[in-house]
Amino acid sequence: MINYDYTLGFGDKLLAFIRYVFKNHAEFRHSCLGLYAKFSPIWGGFVCKNEKREINFSDGSLPVNLCSPMVLAAGANKNGKGINNYANLGLGGITVGTATRNFRIGNTRRPRVGLDEFNRLIYNSMGLNNDGIEKISARVEKQIGKARKHNFAVGISVAETPGIAEEKRLQDLLETFSIAHKTADYLEVNVSCPNTGEDRLDLDTAFMAQVFSSIEDIRKTSPCRKAVYAKLSPDLTDKQLLSLLDLLSQSGVNGVILGNTYPSEKLSYSLPVLNDKGTSGGISGRPIYENAFKKTSLAKKHFPNLSVVACGGIDHGLKVRDLLNEGADFVQIYSVFAFRWMAGQKIMKELLCPSNL
Ligand SMILES: Cc1cc2nc3c(=O)[nH]c(=O)nc-3n(C[C@H](O)[C@H](O)[C@H](O)COP(=O)(O)O)c2cc1C
Repeated sequence: MINYDYTLGFGDKLLAFIRYVFKNHAEFRHSCLGLYAKFSPIWGGFVCKNEKREINFSDGSLPVNLCSPMVLAAGANKNGKGINNYANLGLGGITVGTATRNFRIGNTRRPRVGLDEFNRLIYNSMGLNNDGIEKISARVEKQIGKARKHNFAVGISVAETPGIAEEKRLQDLLETFSIAHKTADYLEVNVSCPNTGEDRLDLDTAFMAQVFSSIEDIRKTSPCRKAVYAKLSPDLTDKQLLSLLDLLSQSGVNGVILGNTYPSEKLSYSLPVLNDKGTSGGISGRPIYENAFKKTSLAKKHFPNLSVVACGGIDHGLKVRDLLNEGADFVQIYSVFAFRWMAGQKIMKELLCPSNL
């Protein structure tokens, strides 16, 4: 496995300059991706239109149709605004959210996002800020028809409301899931957010079993069955991962996203503290790629029928190629947009025309 790198061009250096100018406005920089997507056609570039992928499922779930094997990972568009603009970036789909049952302000401490230029990583502790599933789902509903015409898949990521009373946990998550299931092309259940100050679900096997069997009951009684993915944390040991995959595949889950941000306390980087737990939140970007690759290989080797979506530090077309060769159905990207100018278009070029490299 190679952590392929790209040579910094003029656009990447310009982007570095913009990051420098706005170095004290982390969340403003973060929100610029939406504008960048909207105006992307102005500065042109190659946009992939012929890489149609149909992800089929043997359990009767509706297929996921993508116009490229790269999807925008959850967190970049938390509230479902301007979804179709992201197709301009060479992406084949988008995961909106993560959404919770009601509006959440997220973590109140600032800043809650930071960049490490040298390692090309982002650390964040946003804490699931979002407008709530009803508003988000209504926005997606209005835009999804156009997205489907272009094979631009729209998923919604959902999570339980952090800190909710024990007896309401299951109902809370199931309500959020049911609303999202009516609208989205596929669902992601985020069971691995390291940034809410609450325990992650993917370490609570008994609750995981309850959640996914109840989700299966909802899907059985719905007029159409949508694909369901669980988004897992990259810090699981191989043993933990395999036993979770076993549980998930027995509960009717179609696939897994491998994975979320990497909990900063488990890495050797020393980064500024972002939250009251005294950590830098979750790490994204180049340094977590090797782990994403290994987890993808392991999951496909032991559970070949499970759909695997690789996510973490993907910033080069040859990485996408390697992950697809390992059996990933598609990949998700996010942090690369902060560091690489026209990232989506360049990755697609590297993937489709490796001989030009
Ligand atoms: C600022 C920020 C916010 C994020 N918010 C979410 C989120 O709400 N839900 C989620 O499932 N993942 C979230 N993520 C994780 C990404 O979806 C992705 O799993 C992670 O960044 C690894 O991919 P990358 O290295 O390509 O960025 C967030 C990541 C970042 C950087």
